[in-house]
Amino acid sequence: MDQKVAELLNQQINKEFYSAYLYLELSVYYEENDLDGFANWYMVQTQEERDHAMLMIQYLQKNSAPVTLDTVEKPEVKLGNVKDPLVVAAQHEKYVTGLINNIYDAAYQAKDFRTMQFLDWFVKEQAEEEKTADGLVKKYDLFGTDPKGLYLLDQELAARTYAAPTLTV
Ligand code: FEO
Repeated sequence: MDQKVAELLNQQINKEFYSAYLYLELSVYYEENDLDGFANWYMVQTQEERDHAMLMIQYLQKNSAPVTLDTVEKPEVKLGNVKDPLVVAAQHEKYVTGLINNIYDAAYQAKDFRTMQFLDWFVKEQAEEEKTADGLVKKYDLFGTDPKGLYLLDQELAARTYAAPTLTV
């Protein structure tokens, strides 16, 4: 595998674990603020991010490329109200989309078609994640400022369950 592409994938493993850690922070915030549905939502999201990292590890291993694990940064986010984590998540997913696109571009430059195929799933996944994260901010603005609306939104988010990724490496 092209060395730069392998390096970027290694860096992305760390970013995905950071995403898991960030969403865990959001889940903890909601749990402490008695919004169990929101907490559940981000706990499931944490699991999904861990899966993203694991898929990248498996992909590198299948291609006999070295896997380098690095320190996962502490999430430094200011959470002052119920909406803040939703905005943090929406901004974070846009940032991750940029990272995935950057790896895709490196793979394209290196004519690494196998990695491009692998990343196709992540490109689609990012479109979904951005849409969902933006959608939650919009839903909060529409319903979340009313106590009854917030209660119902919390119930809706409580229903989210974890599903293993559809991608196999
Ligand atoms: Fe791993 Fe939320 O993208």
